[in-house]
Amino acid sequence: AAAVDYEAESAVISQGVVESNHAGYSGTGFVNFDNVAGSYVEYSVNAAQAGTHTLTFRYANGTADNRPVKLVVDGGDKGTVDFPATGDWTTWKTVTATVQLTAGVNKVRTTATTANGGPNADKLTD
Ligand code: GCU
Ligand code: CA
Repeated sequence: AAAVDYEAESAVISQGVVESNHAGYSGTGFVNFDNVAGSYVEYSVNAAQAGTHTLTFRYANGTADNRPVKLVVDGGDKGTVDFPATGDWTTWKTVTATVQLTAGVNKVRTTATTANGGPNADKLTD
């Protein structure tokens, strides 16, 4: 199926702010997760087809340390997704996670698991 973009700045944000001070993002900005465990971005992914989907997360991490998040889809724990260093805050890279989605809207939540918070989140592509 055709790729669909879900911008982080349009998602539900808990303990994070939309910013645009680091160039290279898509859309109108990115989400700067608060640097606390528990901050999250929840995307509403509208899948045309049920089944296996590869979710692509575009992000920047200008620190030296991984910024792992817990991935939860419609309340189901899908494990940890790693967001390794990208070199600086204007270098955006992607990581992927493979999950099962139902047809229709799936709530895809990415929650920071460390006191550093998540990476700067640009978008999710399904
Ligand atoms: C810097 C950077 C932010 C980033 C933050 C962090 O302040 O400008 O965009 O979110 O570091 O470490 O999380
Ligand atoms: Ca941050």
